[in-house]
This record gives sequence, structure tokens and C-alpha cells, in this order.
Amino acid sequence: MTTKEHYENHLAHFYEWMVGDFETAQSETLDFFERNRIKPLQNKVTIDLGSGHGLQSIALAKLGFKVKSVDFNKQLLDCLSIRGKELGIQVFLQDLLDEVNFKEQAELMVCMGDTIAHLESVDDIRLLLDRSFRCLVKNGKLILSYCDYGTELVDINRFIPVKADDNKILTCFLEYFIYKVKVTDLLYERIDGHWVQRVSSYFKLRITNRMIEQLLNKVGFKILKCEVINRMNYLVAEKE
Ligand SMILES: C[S@@+](CC[C@H](N)C(=O)[O-])C[C@H]1O[C@@H](n2cnc3c(N)ncnc32)[C@H](O)[C@@H]1O
Repeated sequence: MTTKEHYENHLAHFYEWMVGDFETAQSETLDFFERNRIKPLQNKVTIDLGSGHGLQSIALAKLGFKVKSVDFNKQLLDCLSIRGKELGIQVFLQDLLDEVNFKEQAELMVCMGDTIAHLESVDDIRLLLDRSFRCLVKNGKLILSYCDYGTELVDINRFIPVKADDNKILTCFLEYFIYKVKVTDLLYERIDGHWVQRVSSYFKLRITNRMIEQLLNKVGFKILKCEVINRMNYLVAEKE
């Protein structure tokens, strides 16, 4: 199954539940931006690549940015449209790499929540970084957050309990290949008193922190900050 199909047929249906309380997650995101002094300084335009239901977009709009949110999943973008209406957020149902995303100059680009690992190849990551670099104004910033898949989980450690409540249990199963990780989202949902199993898999790229830092440097970015929060790398880079 392609990543797009995986989201459409499976993950998007329970993504909000998986993330948990939106306000809590959004305010943690806002806190990260504030700690890193992310605020509008130039033309205010920011592009959120792979916005999902809006954790970063909403936080950035609250900081005063003009937010353009891009995602290929309609269900998640519809949630964001409702939440972001008052904040003037514009949503675009299209692929991350679509050239149209990079037409307007921006002072900030974000691609967070492991979205970059959803691309099909390292060449696509390079293309995304390169297009982001060219569309940023001088001193504009790019913020990425992603998991490092360098160390292979083995045996029973590959079964990751993600979330459970009285009606749903989500487990993620990882299988490691040389360049990719096959991710299987295994959901048990209680419907009319019976547990129903739904399973779907897709591939992520086996990115590492080192690989992303090297790609950023090659494209011309200066890395300002790298921080690990809940096993996710948060990286702030600048176009000098
Ligand atoms: C793990 S979610 C992260 C969403 C959000 N940034 C967050 O932190 O909650 C990845 C998002 O990227 C989107 N996505 C993945 N590959 C994409 C692509 N090639 N083009 C557009 N959107 C994509 C998915 O639909 C999903 O909403």
C-alpha cells in the first residue's frame, strides 16, 4: 500500500485519537517554537509541509505567521480547515514536493512529526530541502522533526504499544530493511461489543540524524539547533 493509501484507508481515521488532546499537543508545539524564538520577522509567510490536522500550523498562526498548510490527506486537512478558520490558515491538498508549494517566498518552512521520513527516497528529501532553501528569504528558517531509524529494533522490541483505551488498542510493528522501515499499524477497535482488527502497512525511509544534517549542510543550510524530545529529533536550520 502507498503512504497516501495508508493514510486514506487507515491512519487518518484514528490519527486524532492517536495524538490525543489537541490543545495539549499544540501548546507543547507552541512552547518549542517560543523557546527557539520562532516569530514572524519578515514577510510572515510560513509553509507547513505535511501539516496533518494542524499541530504546527495552529501554533504558528497563533504566533502571528500567515500559514499555508500542505498535505495530501483530505480528512486531516478538513480538520485543520475547521480549527484554522479563525486564524486565516490556508490549506492545500497536494503533494509535499509539488513545485507550487515553493513558488512564494517564505520566512519559515516546517516539516515536522516525522513527515520527512514518509518521502519515497533520499533524493526526494534532497529535493524538498533544496526547494525549501530556494524559496526561503535570507535568514529564513527550516524546522524539521523526525525519528532516527539508524538503530535497528530487534525481536519483541519491534512491537510498539502506541495507545489504548476502553475501545481502541493501537500497536505499531516495525520491520527493518537496508534503506526503509516497514511500518504496520495494527488497530483493534471495539464495535458493538466485538473487537475488530484493522491492519495496514506502509514504508518509511530509514533516515538518521547524521544523514539529515549532511543533506542540510550540502544544500547550504546552517544548523542552529538540534534537540531530542520524546525520541524525536528537532532541528532548526537557517538560510544564511
Ligand atoms: C506523521 S503525520 C505528521 C503530521 C503533523 N505534522 C504532526 O506533527 O502531527 C505525516 C503527515 O504527512 C502527510 N504526508 C506524508 N507524505 C506526504 C506527501 N508526499 N505529500 C503530502 N503530504 C504527505 C500525511 O498525510 C500526514 O498528515
